[in-house]
Amino acid sequence: MKRGAFIVFEGLDGSGISTQAERLELYLRKHGRRTLLTKEPTNGLIGGMIKEALKQDWKTSFKSLQLLFCADRAKHLEDEIEPAIRDGRIVVCDRYLFSTLAYGFAAGVDTHWLFNVNRAFRMPDLTLFLDMSPDVSMKRIANGREKRELFEKADALNSVRKAYLNLAKRFNFKIINAEQSPDDVGEEVQQVAAKFLARR
Ligand SMILES: Nc1ncnc2c1ncn2[C@@H]1O[C@H](COP(=O)(O)OP(=O)(O)OP(=O)(O)O)[C@@H](O)[C@H]1O
Ligand SMILES: [Mg+2]
Repeated sequence: MKRGAFIVFEGLDGSGISTQAERLELYLRKHGRRTLLTKEPTNGLIGGMIKEALKQDWKTSFKSLQLLFCADRAKHLEDEIEPAIRDGRIVVCDRYLFSTLAYGFAAGVDTHWLFNVNRAFRMPDLTLFLDMSPDVSMKRIANGREKRELFEKADALNSVRKAYLNLAKRFNFKIINAEQSPDDVGEEVQQVAAKFLARR
């Protein structure tokens, strides 16, 4: 049986994370790999609470919001990610703990606290960061949503991007230029993923 792997996509809102996660999963499956396409926040109960908080349907502090993300993540790992990796699948995850670190940091939550509450979670084997300017992100969001979510303002997205770029150095992300067409981004993603899988 082939070894499982854990591949994560991160980026600003509208950077094409969901689009590219779906494309990569399809590409891997076409190449004979067994996969799991999944996302955070999850479609479970805790994920539902988070989505409502992001839509600002109810109020939570930034710290309690990040703890909800962590609770959702713990269950996600136990129920889905870990079993799939044990089963030899390639898990492609649309956002993971770096979203907590970057968005939490941008919201002013203490970095050490954020790292500590995420400490016990498995690290990805490959993190693809879809990088784009906050301006382009805002334009994509404007086309796709009726109402802006919690972090979808230019200055907040600026801080999120800065936090991501710091994490990119520390955790060795592969940085992809997400301002290209979906096909061109997809090409780059496939190349990076294929190279990564060939080395394992
Ligand atoms: N490379 C691209 N060029 C132009 N538009 C794109 C590109 N990638 C995705 N889009 C469009 O941008 C919007 C957001 O894409 P997508 O849902 O994949 O992003 P996301 O990062 O998952 O965003 P979200 O924060 O909404 O989850 C969609 O309307 C999508 O069709
Ligand atoms: Mg998405």
